[in-house]
Order: sequence, then C-alpha cells, then structure tokens
Amino acid sequence: MTMPVAKPGIMSIKPYVGGESGIEGRQDVIKLSSNEGAYGPSPLAQEAYIKAAADLHRYPDGAAAELRRTIGEIHGLNPGQIVCGSGSDELISLLCSAYAGEGDEVLYSQYGFLMYPISAKAAGATPVAAPESNLTTDVDALLAAVTERTRLLFVANPNNPTGTYLPASEMARLRDHLRADILLVIDSAYAEYVTKQDYEAGIELVDAGENVIMTRTFSKIHGLGGVRLGWAYGPENVIDVLNRARGPFNVNAAALNAGVAAIRDQAFTRHCRDENLRILTWTDHQLRDLGLDVTASVGNFLLVCFANDSTRSAVAADEFLRENGIIVRSVASYGLPDCLRITIGTEPEMRRVVDVLSRFMGKNSA
Ligand SMILES: Cc1ncc(COP(=O)(O)O)c(C=O)c1O
Repeated sequence: MTMPVAKPGIMSIKPYVGGESGIEGRQDVIKLSSNEGAYGPSPLAQEAYIKAAADLHRYPDGAAAELRRTIGEIHGLNPGQIVCGSGSDELISLLCSAYAGEGDEVLYSQYGFLMYPISAKAAGATPVAAPESNLTTDVDALLAAVTERTRLLFVANPNNPTGTYLPASEMARLRDHLRADILLVIDSAYAEYVTKQDYEAGIELVDAGENVIMTRTFSKIHGLGGVRLGWAYGPENVIDVLNRARGPFNVNAAALNAGVAAIRDQAFTRHCRDENLRILTWTDHQLRDLGLDVTASVGNFLLVCFANDSTRSAVAADEFLRENGIIVRSVASYGLPDCLRITIGTEPEMRRVVDVLSRFMGKNSA
C-alpha cells in the first residue's frame, strides 16, 4: 500500500455533471439546462439574503428553527418532523449513508435522478435500477426488484428528467406493498409545479406510517439553487437519524434567511407555477407540431426526443441550439441519448427555443 485509497464504491462513481451555464464568446445565452426557476428568486428572498450580510461572522442557527417553523406553517406540518439540508442533494446523500452500506441495495427507477445511484455508491451500497414503462415509474417493476438487501427506495415524483408522475393511488400502492423495513424516499423537488388533481406530494404517505420520507427543494420554483437549500418531512425516528448524521451548521445563514422569505412569498410562488403551466403547455404544443416526440410533463421542463439519424438527432439539435445561444441538457447519461431535456424558461426564451427548433426541423418559424 503506497498511497491512501478510497472505499471501493467511490471509484465506480461517474461524477455528476451539472447543466452547463455558458457558451464561450457569447453574452446573450439562454440557460435551460438545470431546471432552475425561470423568474429567479422572489424580491423578498433577495432582500432577506442581503440582510444576512451584516451578521456573517455569526454561525447560523444549526437547528434552522425559524425556517422549519415557517415551512410547518405554510404546509401545515409539525416542524419537529422537518430537517433542512444544503440542497435536497445533501439529504439524499445523508439518507444513503445513514441507511445503506456495504452489501445493501438502494433501489430507484430506471430514469431516476442521477444522485440516487451516486449517493448509494458513495455510501458503499449497490444501486439497483428497476425498468420504467413509457418513461414513467413502474410500481410493479419496483416491487419486483426488491430483495432482502433493499434498504432504501427513491422515487422522484414528478421525475427528472422525464417530467412524468405517479398519481397518489399508485404511490400508496407502492408503499402498501413495500416491506416495513425499507425506507421509501419520495423526492418531490418539482411538487410546487404540479396542478394535477390526482397528485399528492408525499405528506399523506409520510403521515400514514414510519417508513416514508419526502424531500423538497428551494432550488426550483423558489429560484434559490445558488444558496443550496432543501428540506425533508418524515417520521420522527427518521428525522432523528438525519439530525444525528448531518453537520451541526449544514445550512448557511444567508440560505436560512432567504428560505424563510421565499416560502412566505406565496403570491410569487403561485405566479411562477401559473406562468410555468401556461408556457409549458404552449411549448409542448409547438414542439409536437414540429413533429418532435415530447413526453407530457408536469414539471418545469420537457423531455424532447429526436430521430436516431445524423441530421435530425439529439446531438445535432443540441449543437444547433448552442450555435443559436441556447443551452439545454443532454440526457445521454440517463440512458436517453436521443433526447434533450429543456427547462421551461420565460415566454420570450421559449419563443426563441421554438423558433430555433423550427429551423432545425426545416419548418417555418412559429
Ligand atoms: C428530482 C430532483 N431531486 C433533487 C434535486 C436536487 O435539488 P437540490 O438543488 O435541492 O440539491 C434535483 C435537482 O435537479 C432534482 O431534479
């Protein structure tokens, strides 16, 4: 042994690559690669963030008491069952390291968020992907993939990058048939965008038992991806575990301040949701009219699939969009090489996307 060596699982991780944010030599870039909120953070959250500056010599409140109280008030939840994290990514990672290790399996859905297998491997566990049907989480396939080694099951609802979701009845069926010692993690990062009547973010399932936890983020509709802030709502026993495993000051002071103001600004959140739905619906129709294969989405992004030939492929479309100053997300790393994920931006941004893709498809622009 001549040098320090990491645990075996670590070197099998393919590092997560975030959405790109710039194109060299261009100033007028439209960034639609990371599902960030199209309208930025609420002005009230910006103000609260700036206010934190004068007290930055102080450690933050390690208990995130005010933020948990505010989340509890807005969502009607017991703050004692909430834990905050530096992005929901941190909570996903903590759950994996606390509940799974060498010899254990972490189950997720085929096109599930990449941080599930990454965090599972980092914890020394084995990620196991269950197949999807029509780019949608398949409850029966997940249940069939459960083994005696399964410790955790991650379901993003709605899922990224597909944008599809499972109705409350399917999520309840999944929980009902899951062994009681397996922790079901419902990742509801995009919950605020969903307007479907049969959708439920996970609160009801958390309340119904001891083995379900829901994670949420401030990075999407609240437009606070830059401060890294997420939260989880779960049974007291699971929250206790997370509080033991997390760092004592895992959420910074500016994030705590901004988060409280952001979640209180419900008018801004509603505006973002309504605008997203209007522009998502418009973009979906326009892209289908161009002959593109669009997966119906309930989030703030669309999965768009292209022909498997060299002229109109996803790679060619990605290149053409870039040449025109638009950055979207290749999802080849998710096993979807013929598709691109396009975040729903503002109306002018999406008009430009449709215009560029119309030209790419050899059609007159919209
Ligand atoms: C499904 C899903 N879960 C979690 C996250 C991570 O969010 P955060 O910024 O809170 O770490 C994302 C971010 O893209 C996501 O798409």
